[in-house]
Amino acid sequence: MHKNYFTELKKLLDNAQAPYSGFNVAALVITGNGNIYKGVNVESAAYPTTICAERNAIQTAVTEGMKKGEVKEVHILARNAAKTLIKAQPCGGCRQVIAEQSGNDAVVYSYASATEIEQHSITELLPFAFLGAEL
Ligand code: THU
Repeated sequence: MHKNYFTELKKLLDNAQAPYSGFNVAALVITGNGNIYKGVNVESAAYPTTICAERNAIQTAVTEGMKKGEVKEVHILARNAAKTLIKAQPCGGCRQVIAEQSGNDAVVYSYASATEIEQHSITELLPFAFLGAEL
């Protein structure tokens, strides 16, 4: 980890829209050339159309010109309905997208505070990833 992003993540949590679950998530995506992209979860009244914070950040990165394979780090902080900061791991769908957009070479940092940070490689979180080479 090149930098601790707790302060930025905590501020970003307030932008999440999670009226149904009360579970706010903030994510920052860091690319190989040092660009930083933000994402929050945005829930929908039609529940499945909700977007997770991690995928929102990656989609923003692609929109801004990030190329496939450039994701290097994903930093995540969540806050539950009781307003407690929670160490959250990315959901299965987000693991798939992180694997594809990092060339299966990203590290995911899950924060509970400025000092309690768990880190896992994407290959730990999603072993034997389907990366599309067979398509
Ligand atoms: N959520 C994320 O934003 N990222 C994850 O990796 C886990 C789940 C969101 C989706 C939904 O708005 C809320 O957390 C509860 O599942």
